[in-house]
Amino acid sequence: MDTTIAQAELSSPSKTNQFFDDVINGLNATPKYLNSKYFYDANGDKLFQDLMNCEEYYPTNCELEIFSEKTADICKAIIGNGDAFELIELGAGDATKSSYLLKYLLDNEASFTYLPIDISSNVISYLNITLPVTLPGIQIKGLNGEYFDMLTRAASASNKRKVVMFLGSNIGNMPVHEAEQFCAEVRNHLSAGDMLLIGIDLKKNPKTVLAAYNDKEGITKRFNLNLLERINRELGGNFDASQFEHYPTYDPETGACKSYLVSLADQDVKVGGETISFKKDEYIFMEISQKFTIAQTEQMAKKAKFKPLNQFYDSKKWFVDAIWLAE
Ligand code: AVJ
Repeated sequence: MDTTIAQAELSSPSKTNQFFDDVINGLNATPKYLNSKYFYDANGDKLFQDLMNCEEYYPTNCELEIFSEKTADICKAIIGNGDAFELIELGAGDATKSSYLLKYLLDNEASFTYLPIDISSNVISYLNITLPVTLPGIQIKGLNGEYFDMLTRAASASNKRKVVMFLGSNIGNMPVHEAEQFCAEVRNHLSAGDMLLIGIDLKKNPKTVLAAYNDKEGITKRFNLNLLERINRELGGNFDASQFEHYPTYDPETGACKSYLVSLADQDVKVGGETISFKKDEYIFMEISQKFTIAQTEQMAKKAKFKPLNQFYDSKKWFVDAIWLAE
């Protein structure tokens, strides 16, 4: 790593830096907010890995169960008539779940290219290096960037059938209306016959949901506070993380699970050249993790002009991986 460059970036955050602009806009808004897509720097990736291994965070285990127990059925559905296709994954992460599918597809000599897309450059270089080793014979082309920029690029690269995967209930990071628009935009990047394989966290006992975002070890808390520390590291901020408290909430009626960081004192924080003032008890809205009913997921599919084809559940029916067909 070139520390000279890192230092230069640290001391003079560029005004054209999207991260900087988004942070300043969010912290100057009423109420204050930060975009949870910025959770995932190298530290955030690590904390999210820890979260996925913690006792209370159930979504990953549910989806892993689906991918490991229903591999053949899912693969048969996406292979369709056997024509070559492109398997595009939005927000691939460490690709643990998709690896089940990738292995099955390779073992069954399906003809496909795997195109993981992730906002974290870390994640993409990791996948480009490790997958050809763990899954010999795989054709992989990782793309680092925003989902739709990369989806446009992936879609223009060939006219093969496309299967887009959007797993882990990443769709839940958007309020319902935005999630609907997001699905419609995915549909706009696809052609009739293409598919979306989407993982969605379902409504369940409210205590189970809340516990997943309020783990006893405090990983979720550190995951949220890491964004303040990332602002310090990358944008020359001086947040004191000990002066903010993690506050998770779940509303069983709307299915919205939201987290906030609450200021423990009146305080001024510097970010780049800007000063942001906090009142005691003022909060920053950090993240939404929306939970759905099955009926709501089907509605979302139809609104976006997809036809729901298959639904794969874990044994507790806490999570669904659905295959939607672009018509
Ligand atoms: C990766 C967006 C699916 O919302 O459940 C985990 C992120 N936030 N714990 C989720 C997260 C707090 C996670 N997603």
